[in-house]
Amino acid sequence: METGSWTSAGFLLLSALLSGCLCAYSPAQLDPLVFEEQLLWVSGAQGQVNTYRIPLITFTPQGSLLAIAEGRKSSSGDIGAKFIAVRRSTDKGNTWSPTAFIVDDGSFTDGLNLGSVVVDEEAGSVILIYSICFHLYHCKPASTMMVESWDDGLSWSRPKNLSVQLGVKAFAPGPGFGIQKRLDPAKGRLVVCGHGTIEGDGVFCILSDDHGETWRNGAALKSIPYNQPKKSQDFNPDECQPVELMDGSIMINVRNQNNYHCHCRIVVRSLDGGLTLPVEELFFDTALIDPAVAAGALQKDGVLYFTNPSSDQKRVNLTLRWSLTNGKTWENKAVQIWPGPSGYSCLTSLNGDSVEDQKYIFVIYEKGHKDIIETISFVKIHLYGGR
Ligand SMILES: *[C@@H]1O[C@H](CO)[C@@H](O)[C@H](O)[C@H]1NC(C)=O
Ligand SMILES: *[C@@H]1O[C@H](CO)[C@@H](O)[C@H](O)[C@H]1NC(C)=O
Repeated sequence: METGSWTSAGFLLLSALLSGCLCAYSPAQLDPLVFEEQLLWVSGAQGQVNTYRIPLITFTPQGSLLAIAEGRKSSSGDIGAKFIAVRRSTDKGNTWSPTAFIVDDGSFTDGLNLGSVVVDEEAGSVILIYSICFHLYHCKPASTMMVESWDDGLSWSRPKNLSVQLGVKAFAPGPGFGIQKRLDPAKGRLVVCGHGTIEGDGVFCILSDDHGETWRNGAALKSIPYNQPKKSQDFNPDECQPVELMDGSIMINVRNQNNYHCHCRIVVRSLDGGLTLPVEELFFDTALIDPAVAAGALQKDGVLYFTNPSSDQKRVNLTLRWSLTNGKTWENKAVQIWPGPSGYSCLTSLNGDSVEDQKYIFVIYEKGHKDIIETISFVKIHLYGGR
């Protein structure tokens, strides 16, 4: 008996030291439970918006949650005019503000597309990066745009055109979150990754070492054949979500657009703070079957979490998986969040020192009964089965 309790106390201490937090819970106790679910947006229910899509979620430096989505004005299609819609929660997702439209692209033929939200915890700001004219539909060139909030997501700056610094290139950030490096190499750096046009596709990262004042081009993992029309099963890395692991490397979980090698996720790592994505650090995670979609990933206290519609053909079965080995293996037990139509998803958690903040992660995803575009849903997950 005594030995047993010493062993588990030792394990708790070890995992607390490894994860850098004095956690009340250890990864061995993980038993995620869908604790609460709320619909944040319903397509067609509000006059000015036809369809809400591409949900992002983030914590803020002040401990609020921001839910962000495209409000597509006249159709569900990717092109066309849009708003950026934001709802804000200051009570950890229990209640939400009404929708604020923080960017309005007017009547653009090929309007804005989300996007990556990145929190600068050192500066205390929230940055949102999106594209306009990404599809070059009756417009050119494509531009990479940025807005920033210094007051916890209440007000936002006017859009700034980052293509002036980055050069003109079709770049669709995320969709998901960008990261601020918490560890070396390049501690403090903002890293936002996204993809290119369908022909000139690949994973591309942009970097800022001065809290979003200036940006430069970083790592690129190009599609093959590059800048040429693709065929089924060509290598075509697309929408992506970076996370920082506890060794300071950046792991990027990527949509495998043309199903190269498998109907599963591409995973690639940067060991130098987003400057390069070496092929040696690339693998296909056959455990993460995928219908070619934008997925969610998050690293919290040494555990890697992943959400996608877990099916190799269709966007159904939104599932949460978790890994205690940085994605080398996944725990057998997965949590099905929604069996029906489900699309893009994004994850976040609060980083406070409180035991409360260690217990939850938050998911936002596209959810429907007949089609994924019907609603945007917010889910609070209790990681320890409600204990
Ligand atoms: C952004 O800057 C680029 C490069 O100067 C320019 O070509 C493009 O038209 C600008 N986009 C917008 C929306 O102003
Ligand atoms: C949902 O996903 C889980 C995890 O991949 C899988 O075991 C299950 O068979 C899936 N269900 C359906 C109906 O596809």
